[in-house]
Amino acid sequence: MKKLVILTGAGISAESGLKTFRDSDGLWEGYDIEDVATPMAWKRNPQLVLEFYNYRRKNVLDAKPNAAHYGLAKLEKDFDVTIITQNIDDLHERAGSTKVLHLHGEIFKMRSEANEGLIYEINGDIKLGDKAADEAQLRPHIVWFHEAVPMIEVAVPIVISADIFVVVGTSLVVYPAAGLVNYAPHEIPKFIVDKKVPYTSSVYNLRAIEKPATEGVADLVEMLKSFL
Ligand code: APR
Repeated sequence: MKKLVILTGAGISAESGLKTFRDSDGLWEGYDIEDVATPMAWKRNPQLVLEFYNYRRKNVLDAKPNAAHYGLAKLEKDFDVTIITQNIDDLHERAGSTKVLHLHGEIFKMRSEANEGLIYEINGDIKLGDKAADEAQLRPHIVWFHEAVPMIEVAVPIVISADIFVVVGTSLVVYPAAGLVNYAPHEIPKFIVDKKVPYTSSVYNLRAIEKPATEGVADLVEMLKSFL
């Protein structure tokens, strides 16, 4: 089976009711990112950071996968699919995708603030005073702005090995995730699905499908049939 590697971002979950960051005037659910999604914010006001992610976790629990998530999951019948997502939601998994790599962490996990290897599942809230096995405070298992993205080391070889590369619903402005596009082999077929396709003129052999993800993924699935 051909290796199909798909990079996704907030746009794929937009039609499930989860707001994208850059479509909402630089505020994220009414918060300034510097106040809720940086290590400095965590130092300054951990309570606010926890409230923000506890709130987002509830939103994700209420959301359901949409036709775009399901469409990508079904591609596993015909392709060896790996999804590399910048999203912290679990909608790809709930739609049935089996190989999902989360570059920016997962909303249903938490970890010790002192040891990034001490990770736990979570469904409820994280509270100040909740401790990991090492007695350090628990924090969301999320990669904040200004933090390293350890999963990029895993993602790069996957993209290098792709036979077909697809991008869905990302503005391609946040690095290192956005840089993955440049690791896709030069000659392979590439597709981008986005309501408003970002500037990607330097990418060779790229077809743009400028539609909302639910419609655009349906088109993509049709186009991929010619590669079977
Ligand atoms: N269908 C398809 N694309 C959409 C839709 C939709 N219904 N709605 C929005 N989009 C597109 C926008 O046009 C934009 O290109 O999705 C993209 C969303 O961009 P961002 O909000 O910047 O999201 P993303 O690229 O995932 O952000 C990267 O930055 O916010 C941080 O860490 C967070 O992982 C996130 C990272």
